[in-house]
Order: sequence, then structure tokens, then C-alpha cells
Amino acid sequence: MALTESGFPIEPVYGPGDLTGWDPASELGQPGDFPYTRGIYPNMYTGRPWTMRQYAGFGTAAESNARYRQLIEGGGTGLSVAFDLPTQMGHDSDAPLAQGEVGKVGVAVDSLDDMRTLFDGIPLDRVSTSMTINAPAALLLLLYQLVAEEQGISGTELTGTIQNDVLKEYIARGTYIFPPGPSLRLTADTFRYCRAEIPRWNTISISGYHMAEAGASPAQEVAFTLADGIAYVRTALAAGMVVDEFAPRLSFFFVARTTLLEEVAKFRAARRIWARVMREEFGARDPKSLMLRFHTQTAGVQLTAQQPELNLVRVAVQALAAVLGGTQSLHTNSFDEAIALPTEKSARLALRTQQVLAHETDVPHTVDPFAGSYAVERMTDELEAAALALMRRVEDQGGAVAAIEAGFQKAEIERNAYRIAQETESGERVVVGVNRFALEREDAYEPLRVDPAIEARQCAALARLRAERGGPAVTAALAALKEAAAGTANVLYPMKEALRARATVGEVCGALREVWGTYEPSGSTW
Ligand code: 3HC
Repeated sequence: MALTESGFPIEPVYGPGDLTGWDPASELGQPGDFPYTRGIYPNMYTGRPWTMRQYAGFGTAAESNARYRQLIEGGGTGLSVAFDLPTQMGHDSDAPLAQGEVGKVGVAVDSLDDMRTLFDGIPLDRVSTSMTINAPAALLLLLYQLVAEEQGISGTELTGTIQNDVLKEYIARGTYIFPPGPSLRLTADTFRYCRAEIPRWNTISISGYHMAEAGASPAQEVAFTLADGIAYVRTALAAGMVVDEFAPRLSFFFVARTTLLEEVAKFRAARRIWARVMREEFGARDPKSLMLRFHTQTAGVQLTAQQPELNLVRVAVQALAAVLGGTQSLHTNSFDEAIALPTEKSARLALRTQQVLAHETDVPHTVDPFAGSYAVERMTDELEAAALALMRRVEDQGGAVAAIEAGFQKAEIERNAYRIAQETESGERVVVGVNRFALEREDAYEPLRVDPAIEARQCAALARLRAERGGPAVTAALAALKEAAAGTANVLYPMKEALRARATVGEVCGALREVWGTYEPSGSTW
């Protein structure tokens, strides 16, 4: 008997008897109706296609700027910035810890100068930009706003998203800096700052993607992501905000696996759970507070280095799952990403995959075509029940932060990852080209390589910046930031002045480390 990724039997044939105790015709509701099972808007893609938002960034700001221009010229409808690890961890390119990582998995941004170069010639009032940055998310948002101000664009005109989801960094991925307390304080400060200064900005992208990539099942992905979402809502409420003031600007980020039917069910279940949590637990009334808006990325972990062209097929199926599931924004992986950074051609093919779905298929012309399907409605119910049960287990431990500190989510995900690894090893889980239908000899493949000389160039630019800028102004600005961090004032205002004075990402995070310390993971008790 085949099982779904969440462990439920997949019936060879589904029928009316599989919809236990309810009738979709009378109870499912319409797209755009609470709890939004069928989609958050009545018309979905017939009103506006999903955003084709390809994650990109490597090397220096100038090199990434060129790639963004290519993506926009190629038809991309939203930007998505990948930062290198030193930037994500709040270190400058010339920090000892940065050696060998500068510009490698994303673009190096040390200062206002780099941010200005990164968006040179790109009208920030006409693109929406996602930035995959977490612990120092506030800094990169402020640098983006400072560049927009230099272009004569006010914060009220800016649209985009910062990932800003540190809780999932403690569970998976690992780009955290400060302990949970100060991290959540910074998150609440950022919510409040955006409400006042950049009101159309999506303040957080609560992510299940990285937990899924670490091995989480669809039910775990939904449960742990929404549990993190609940922790962020509670944090903002505890900071004195009103739920309908910040909830409309929360967004989410999920994976799309090759198991299409279950993935469509996953997105439908996630929307329904979140809508009910926001209305019933937090009393949200604004419909935008109840709508789960999300970005999807196809599953990187399912890409293979063997016969890499097969990944074009996997990504197409995964992208179709996201679209059938009602995603608002989509990134399709390049077929060569299991080997190296995408080449210009493989990145273009990834975007073209979305364009084929949008312009050659009939899928965008009708909303939630699986509605009423015995199979997908049953899977939606099963996923909803499994996710709710896991959310209750997180709640029983005192919520997401307490569960993280006890190692619960990490242990649950690792257990599932181990099961997947064992099934792959045994051949029970088929990976075409890897453990079945493999080739004796793989064709040679020439991957894109990041020029190691960019690290020296980036460090030279930093030396020039430190020589040119006014030292006392930076010192004074950093002192003001430390004073705010030690108190209760919103840290984003002094942070912005420090960045405007060309303090670097490393110096600003360093000032906060001095006040808040850094997170040290506790040993798992699970
Ligand atoms: N009817 C009415 N209005 C509609 C509509 C419809 N059918 N469709 C869209 N709209 C409106 C929306 O309400 C929105 O209005 P607003 O300006 O008031 O917000 C506007 O049109 C834009 O639509 P969306 O907000 O749906 O689309 P966006 O693309 O702008 O936003 C998002 C999508 C999910 C809300 C946003 O948070 C987003 O873009 N997220 C992207 C996150 C991302 O790219 N992450 C990358 C992560 S990579 C990573 O983590 C690293 C690696 O390790 C994986």
C-alpha cells in the first residue's frame, strides 16, 4: 500500500465514502471565502498571475545586479535576493569567519555602498523585492529603504518581503545570531517600524521550506511553520500591537515536492488552519489577517546531480503542484543546482518552466480545480488533522520557542529525515537516475564557478569605505544603537542612522551582539 509523505495510505480508488461526514458541495465554500481552503481570492490567477520570483544572487553586488536585470528582462515579475553567509550571519566580508564564504551562496552586502550597487538602475517603486535574510533582516531592509530614499522613493511606495524568520533558523538552516528573546524583540520592532514607515512591506516570510529540506514531512512542515507563526503573533501582541495592525503583512514560505496530490492538499489545509487560528485564537477581524499568503520554492533536496536534466521534469511537476495549490509567488529551481550555482541558461530554463505553466496550460484559468476531488479533499482532511495534532504537541510544551529550546521540532524532523534516507538506501523510495535507471557513466557537466578573487575585491572596497567615511559619526551612531538595544526604544531608528553613516553590517550586528549576546543551542532533550 503506497503512503503519502505524511504517512497516510493512498487508496487505489477514492469515492464518496472517503469524505467522512461532510459534503464538499455544501460545506467547502468558494475561493475567497473564509477559511480560504480553495484560495484567498475569489478569482486567483484569473485576476492576477502568481509572481514569478526567482531567487538569485552571488559574488559582488555588481554581478548580482546584472543577473537581476537579466531576470527582469526575461519576464521575471519579482526580485528575490540571495545573500552570502557572512551577510546572513552579520559579519563583514573581511571578518576572519567570512573567509572562503564571501559571495559564495549569495551576494556580499557589507554597507550602503553595496546595496546601492545591488539595485543600480532598478526602480524600487516598480518592483517587489524579497530578501532572504533573517537575523539581520532589519538592517538589510533599512539599507534597501536608504537606497530607495536616494532614488527619491518614499517608504510608502516600497513593496517586498524580508524573510525575518529566526525561529526556523534555530530549527533548521542555522543562520541565527542573537538568543530568542532579543531576536523576537527585534522582530516586533521591525513589525512596528514597517507599520509606521513601510506599510506595504511584508514583514516576515514564516518558512516551512528549510524544515522540509531538512526532512520534515508535509504535516510537520505545516505544523511547525504555523506554530512559529503563532509565536510571532503572540510576540507582537505582547509588544502592545493590535492583531489587525500587523497580521495582514505576515506571509509564509513552503516547499513544493514532486508528490503533487499531497502537496496541493497541504496548501489547502494550511490556509484553512491559519484562517481559523487567526479568527478563533487571536480575534482577528480584517480578512487580510486571516488569509495565508505564501511563496513556494520547488524542492531543492529532490534535485539530483545524476542525469541533471531529469530535474527539469521534477521542477515542472513541483511547480504545477504549487500553482494547483494556489501559491502567490513561485521560485522554480534550476536543473543544475544539485551540482553548482545556476548558469544563466539554467536560470532562464527555470523561469521558462513557470511561463509554460502560466501561458500554455489551462491551469491558471480556473480556481482550485481539485475542489470536490475525493482524493485531494480526503488528503486535505488528513493533513489538516495531522498538522493540528502536531501543533497541539508544540502547544503542550509551551509553544514554539519552548519546544525549540527542548529540541522537539529538530528531533521530529531528524526522525523523518532518517526514514527517508533509509527508504532511499533500500531502494523502497525510487530516485530515478540514482537508485534506479542509473547510467554507468554520467555526461560531463561544466558548472558555473564564483571567482575567488571577489573576496579580495570586496575586502578592498571595505577598506576604502572605512577610510572615507566620517569615523566619529559612525561611532556616535553605534553608541546610540547600543543604548536603544539596552532599553525598550525601537532599535530600527538608530540602526537606520548608523547605516546611513555607512556603518557596516558587521559593525551594526557587532554592536547588537555586545548588548544581546549570541544564541548557543541547548542539547536536545528529545
Ligand atoms: N485579487 C485581488 N488582489 C490580488 C490578487 C487577486 N487575484 N492577486 C494579487 N493581488 C494583490 C495582492 O493582495 C497584493 O496586494 P498588496 O500590494 O496590497 O500587497 C498584490 O496584488 C501583489 O500580490 P501578492 O502579494 O500576492 O504577490 P507578491 O509576490 O507581491 O507577494 C508574498 C507574495 C508571498 C505575499 C510575498 O511575501 C513574497 O513575495 N514572498 C516571497 C518570499 C521569497 O521569495 N522567499 C525566497 C526564499 S529563498 C530561501 O529561503 C533560501 C533558500 O535556502 C531556499
